[in-house]
Amino acid sequence: MSLNTKRIVILIIGVFFLGALLVVGAVENNKRVVGKKAAIKISQTSKRCVECHTSTSPSLVEQWRNSKHALRGVGCIDCHEAQKTDKDAWEHEGKLIAVIVSPADCSKCHSKENEQFQSSHHADAGKILGSLDNVLAEVVEGNTGRLGLDGQSPAAINGCWQCHGSVVKIMENGRPDPSTWPNTGIGRINPDGSKGSCTACHSRHQFSVSVSRQPDSCGKCHMGPDHPQKEIYEESKHGIAFKAFKDDMKLDAQPWRVGIEYTAAPTCATCHMSATDDMEVTHDVGRRISWNLRPPVSEKIDAKAIKAGETVESWEDRRDNMKNVCSKCHSESYVDGFYTQFDSAINLYNDKFGKPATEIINMMKAGGVLTPTAFDEELEWTYFYLWHHEGRRARHGASMMAPDYTQWHGFFEVAERFYIHFVPEVKKACRKAIRRKGSNATAAKEVLAKLNEILNREEHQWFLSKMSQEEKSKRKAAAEEFKKRYAQN
Ligand code: HEC
Ligand code: HEC
Ligand code: HEC
Ligand code: HEC
Ligand code: HEC
Ligand code: HEC
Ligand code: HEC
Ligand code: HEC
Repeated sequence: MSLNTKRIVILIIGVFFLGALLVVGAVENNKRVVGKKAAIKISQTSKRCVECHTSTSPSLVEQWRNSKHALRGVGCIDCHEAQKTDKDAWEHEGKLIAVIVSPADCSKCHSKENEQFQSSHHADAGKILGSLDNVLAEVVEGNTGRLGLDGQSPAAINGCWQCHGSVVKIMENGRPDPSTWPNTGIGRINPDGSKGSCTACHSRHQFSVSVSRQPDSCGKCHMGPDHPQKEIYEESKHGIAFKAFKDDMKLDAQPWRVGIEYTAAPTCATCHMSATDDMEVTHDVGRRISWNLRPPVSEKIDAKAIKAGETVESWEDRRDNMKNVCSKCHSESYVDGFYTQFDSAINLYNDKFGKPATEIINMMKAGGVLTPTAFDEELEWTYFYLWHHEGRRARHGASMMAPDYTQWHGFFEVAERFYIHFVPEVKKACRKAIRRKGSNATAAKEVLAKLNEILNREEHQWFLSKMSQEEKSKRKAAAEEFKKRYAQN
């Protein structure tokens, strides 16, 4: 080979090598722009969003790339597109887009999920204004907005609203108002009037079902002193099994039916939302529960509707829906036995503590023994702790198999609150009113008579040292048995 031929050969190889490098580079580049999965096909518009946002917000784009949406060609504009008439339309890089992606936007492709969600209690969670709890955030803890953002209490903005949802306001420039957003509250009121936020459970931008099937996902909101469902679940055998066998749970499977795709443990989603072989997924979390365990006195979940003359799914049918889930792992009599125990705890709370305390408080408010102002008297805080914190803990613990929440965080504290705080404080307030001989003195006497009647009921007589002789000897014999048993070891 002459020198020239060699040079030409080397040149050809060099050019080929360089070309190969360029091709590889271009392919790599293309992958980065369009997504790791070669199959990703999105519109030209979305490609532009992806290109630019890959440098401005790389993680966000990466999460989208890992989503089923990217895989199925759902690009940025398919969710963020806005019409001129939309309140939140914003001219951005030559396109009209909206920052807010509401359930109505998702419903373009997921109408069934949206319909179920819109008719759920979750979607109504933003309607807390005017509730007793709300007085706390706005008045007692807050400053009626004076020290707040835009007339709103920071306690509400950073607390209540982050779980329940804000009313999202849009500023002149089409961007969300920072006093109301960021927010993914479950009952958020969107600029288009739709309720709620799908990202409350489906974290963006991956929107993976694995996240929503995790107990932690519900636990953002369902935790703490007044509704500790997350902690209750962790205490229960179900939560223990989930932790031990999480790797076998196939959390990303579609479909995800208990008893088929997985068997090791139920998560919150399993019992309240997910499918079985003969029951569909529901986005209405009220469809499988029979009680409302939130109010001062628990009622069956359909009681309000029946009183209002409306027809809704009966509590019996809802309970059957839940039993359908349990039955994939337990026998029928086991599950019936659970419901017998659970109902008995709710009835005990209602009859012994919830109803009497509520009746007394209502009499005192109506008769002027308590001021009309909420939370300005110790007794009102005592009553609030009784039903809103401790009473709920006892009920919630019993509903989901957590004995410690039922007993030590629950009934024990309910009893202490009732006998050691509530009863003496009622007496003190009534006696003060009677001494002062004001217009509320008669009402105060009636309250004391009522309290006396309540304490003379069989379940409270022990407190007045009036327990029947028969009961006393029964208890004494049992106590002696107990001492003997322990003396033996
Ligand atoms: C040329 C670059 C570029 C393009 C193209 C682009 N964006 Fe942006 N985008 C940005 C930058 C930079 C910001 C931050 C601007 C700001 O903070 O005001 C932004 C902000 C946003 C926001 C608002 C975030 C917020 O918190 O208010 C959204 C939503 C958004 N882009 C979506 C899109 C969508 C959807 C597309 C495609 C239709 C797109 N972008 C195209 C660069 C771009
Ligand atoms: C499946 C629907 C969906 C797709 C697809 C989607 N988004 Fe979003 N995006 C949302 C939702 C929901 C929010 C939360 C906004 C809200 O509060 O309503 C959001 C918020 C945002 C935000 C502002 C919030 C933040 O965390 O900074 C930006 C910026 C954004 N998206 C950009 C993009 C870009 C770029 C793409 C494409 C790579 C994209 N989105 C694709 C649904 C989507
Ligand atoms: C343009 C249509 C479209 C829009 C708009 C859209 N999606 Fe999807 N979504 C899809 C498709 C297609 C799939 C994939 C279905 C499949 O693979 O079976 C999907 C899948 C999902 C999944 C299942 C993911 C998984 O891991 O199995 C969730 C959750 C989801 N979308 C939530 C949302 C939410 C929330 C919004 C609004 C913020 C939204 N989607 C907007 C089309 C859309
Ligand atoms: C950590 C999230 C979180 C915060 C913060 C929060 N809540 Fe709630 N709230 C919930 C959950 C979850 C429930 C439902 C509990 C249940 O079903 O047992 C609830 C229930 C309620 C209810 C009862 C609704 C009904 O249908 O009976 C009212 C009223 C309420 N909250 C108001 C407020 C107010 C006002 C604030 C702020 C002072 C607040 N909440 C703070 C999560 C939260
Ligand atoms: C309370 C939490 C929660 C909210 C809010 C929520 N989802 Fe889901 N979503 C789930 C869970 C849990 C699953 C998984 C169900 C299962 O096991 O298949 C799911 C599944 C899905 C799926 C996949 C199909 C399926 O059945 O698995 C889609 C699509 C979806 N959701 C869309 C939406 C849309 C749209 C919204 C808003 C209207 C929304 N979700 C709101 C919890 C939620
Ligand atoms: C083994 C099934 C099961 C699991 C797992 C489970 N729950 Fe429940 N849940 C129940 C039952 C049963 C009830 C009571 C139903 C009734 O009223 O008939 C209930 C009631 C509730 C209520 C209604 C409370 C009220 O105030 O009325 C909420 C909220 C709730 N669960 C949330 C959760 C959350 C969050 C998780 C996970 C951290 C979870 N659940 C896990 C079965 C389950
Ligand atoms: C962003 C906060 C948030 C998340 C996340 C959330 N919830 Fe809730 N949930 C609430 C609030 C607030 C209420 C009370 C709504 C009301 O009564 O106004 C509630 C009520 C409920 C109820 C009672 C429904 C009824 O009809 O009485 C059940 C059951 C429930 N949630 C289950 C779940 C499960 C299961 C998950 C997770 C898959 C979940 N929630 C995720 C905030 C949340
Ligand atoms: C995916 C399977 C699965 C589902 C669904 C399920 N459980 Fe369980 N459950 C278990 C396992 C596993 C245990 C632990 C058994 C043991 O103690 O050895 C358990 C334990 C229990 C216990 C005993 C608690 C204790 O501390 O000993 C009760 C009661 C119970 N489940 C009731 C229910 C009810 C009621 C439902 C429906 C609302 C339900 N379970 C749904 C798997 C399941």
